[in-house]
Amino acid sequence: MAQSIKKRVLIVHYSQSGQLNDVVRHFAQPLVDHANIEVTFEPIKPVEAFPFPWPFLRFFDTFPEAVYLDPPAIQASTLTGDEDFDLVILAYQVWFLSPSLPTTAFLQSATAAKLLHGKPVVTLIACRNMWLMAQEAVKTLLDELGAKLIGNVALVDEAGSAGSFLATPVWVLSGHKGPHLGGLIPKAGVAPEAMTACSRFGDRIIERIFSDAELDVTLLQGLGAVEVNEKLISSEKTAKRSFRIWGKLFRSLGPQGSLLRKPVILIYIVFLITFIITFIPLSVLLKAIFSPLTRRHTAAQKKYFGSPSGS
Ligand SMILES: Cc1cc2nc3c(=O)[nH]c(=O)nc-3n(C[C@H](O)[C@H](O)[C@H](O)COP(=O)(O)O)c2cc1C
Repeated sequence: MAQSIKKRVLIVHYSQSGQLNDVVRHFAQPLVDHANIEVTFEPIKPVEAFPFPWPFLRFFDTFPEAVYLDPPAIQASTLTGDEDFDLVILAYQVWFLSPSLPTTAFLQSATAAKLLHGKPVVTLIACRNMWLMAQEAVKTLLDELGAKLIGNVALVDEAGSAGSFLATPVWVLSGHKGPHLGGLIPKAGVAPEAMTACSRFGDRIIERIFSDAELDVTLLQGLGAVEVNEKLISSEKTAKRSFRIWGKLFRSLGPQGSLLRKPVILIYIVFLITFIITFIPLSVLLKAIFSPLTRRHTAAQKKYFGSPSGS
């Protein structure tokens, strides 16, 4: 292995609270410390910053654009697009089962089209715990750019499905991670140990990047890169379908922030809460009842969503 040849890694990232940037820092540290790896950090900067914490109505009024991948304006990159990277890491968070809007905008930019074409890409996600549909959208966008997805790492909130159900929204709407109400609402966010442990991915990249063989889907395998929660597969699919139906209605009423959308947002919030407290537990229950009949299908789905890096 020729460790003397300089390798170049691009890390594209965006974070509101700083959580995803912390994940990126741990992931990238071994690469940054390596004398023959040049790491370029490319923060995505929306022209108009998204608020954090989020005002209540603005939060919900953002889902149609997120789901329909409507790119907001982003500031021009410092890169021309002609730079030649050996590996690209795309770090993103999930907004409404879709990539966050700044990420969507980057993936649809002219710079990304030049930078990512033909390049191996690793996605790095930090979100509450529902990332499967967002990653499907990212896969499509990467395909359209002619990029090769060779790895995926997904970190989820430590409070688990039930705990983070309130903890994460309370965090992004208040700006405080908690815990709140004496622990009734647990602390939001990814566990610090899970973030620190991300350096193992950077270490693995160093092992492989100097080899003569092309980087491929085996890059991050065997490192526990993702954990697919099979109970959430059908909930995510149904919720995404519902987001698309409501999103279409919202977009027909006007652009984000328009007055006409406001009363519909309130109706939508009531629908969403009803949906979450009825459909999701019901779907989990039905899944448990029929699991002996669907075991094969579920295993295949788990494998599909877990690829390329696996658990
Ligand atoms: C508008 C919005 C929508 C979100 N939707 C989801 C979601 O669908 N699934 C999920 O797992 N997390 C969701 N999250 C949580 C984020 O993925 C992420 O964990 C959190 O915003 C912190 O990211 P940061 O690094 O930008 O601070 C959402 C957050 C925001 C602000």
